[in-house]
Amino acid sequence: MNDMPANDMITPRPNDLDAFWMPFSSNRTYKSTPRLLARAEGMYYYTHDGHEVIDGTAGLWCVNAGHGRREITEAIQKQAAIMDFAPTFNIGHPIAFAAAAKVAEMTPPGLDRVFFTNSGSESADTALKIALAYQRARGQAQRVRLVGRERGYHGVGFGGMSVGGIGPNRKQFGAMLPYVDHLPHTHLPAHNAFTRGQPDHGAHLADALENLVALHGDTIAAVMVEPLAGSTGVLVPPKGYLNRLRELCDKHGILLIYDEVITGFGRIGTPFGAERLGVAPDIMTMAKGLTNAAVPMGAVAASEEVYRTIVEGAPAGIELFHGYTYSGHPLASAAAIASVDLHKSDDLAGRAMAMEGYFEDGAHSLNGLPNVIDIRNMGLVAGIELQPRVGKPTDRAMKIFHRCFDAGVLIRTTGDIIALSPPLIVERKHVDRIFETIGDAIRAEAA
Ligand SMILES: Cc1ncc(COP(=O)(O)O)c(C=O)c1O
Repeated sequence: MNDMPANDMITPRPNDLDAFWMPFSSNRTYKSTPRLLARAEGMYYYTHDGHEVIDGTAGLWCVNAGHGRREITEAIQKQAAIMDFAPTFNIGHPIAFAAAAKVAEMTPPGLDRVFFTNSGSESADTALKIALAYQRARGQAQRVRLVGRERGYHGVGFGGMSVGGIGPNRKQFGAMLPYVDHLPHTHLPAHNAFTRGQPDHGAHLADALENLVALHGDTIAAVMVEPLAGSTGVLVPPKGYLNRLRELCDKHGILLIYDEVITGFGRIGTPFGAERLGVAPDIMTMAKGLTNAAVPMGAVAASEEVYRTIVEGAPAGIELFHGYTYSGHPLASAAAIASVDLHKSDDLAGRAMAMEGYFEDGAHSLNGLPNVIDIRNMGLVAGIELQPRVGKPTDRAMKIFHRCFDAGVLIRTTGDIIALSPPLIVERKHVDRIFETIGDAIRAEAA
């Protein structure tokens, strides 16, 4: 370790693996057979020992414009030389305002009040707090209840974890937030398996909100859902489902929050999922693609009505007692501006839409391989669900993950589901290689 030059960023070597307590990982398994990504460019990672690996997951659903975009790197470098940091509590710096205005150019019309955070988790908790503050500001302080959905993922803060619906993410951590309830998830394989795009069946599942209103009366502040659920293993919303949810929220005075941390920034073929799915929320979270993941940053976009109700309804002084030291951090702001500019100049959402059919065909070409029990997709997202090995859940998917990596393709697995989300610059030759490699790995793990 000591013989490694401090600036050796090109070929870092594995050193002591003990200190880093890895997030959402099997530290023991990983550290016994480490695989290291040391460099990245365009569609590719390169391992510490020089192997090329196609990025089938845009890192972690985040490097939507492809790796190492010069425009973003240079913007960060330039800003670091101008000013490293300045606070945004009752003082400001120009680039945070410029970044918010730039983000508002990309968000759906009407969602243009932008609150900066540092991650998707912080965005989820911020959105929930804004919803509660809004209800209180409009004289509905009894609306303290938050509704999520089974299998939803909203990060790992106490708000997002509680409103989220993924059992293993909750069970180690005690009591959760009070006053939280959940809608049923939308996974109906008996009706919808192997659907391309939005499934026909399942809009009625939104009606469960009526049941929650019957139970809780006018105490619900907000419903938060991912427009297309990613981390749980890709659940595409049934046709009409989000429309129904929107109608019921309006009927009952409930805010609709979309967690667009994955679906934002072109992932499903439009700048945000709201546009592709044709239903707008009142509040929207984002992160990941916001800076192309070059610097951590998240944001919440709120409607004018939400912003005005809170800000203009407050007594003089601070209007929302919430914020982060790094809200609107100058380096992240620089990266966000450059990232949004790239989305526009390269029409990344349009590229995703244009590639969707080819990518969909690639995904569904795996239909019929051993143990493939469902394939779901929209935009440049695909989920391939595998039959788990008896008594050994996740084993098959993990072995396929390792086989693919060793064959030069990075995939992601969640449970026994393969989730794919390549950078939006993906080309046909990459798509071919991704699905050929996965197909080979599925066959090799048929037993
Ligand atoms: C929909 C959604 N919300 C929130 C998060 C959490 O984001 P972060 O890991 O940046 O906190 C994620 C991460 O995958 C996500 O997919």
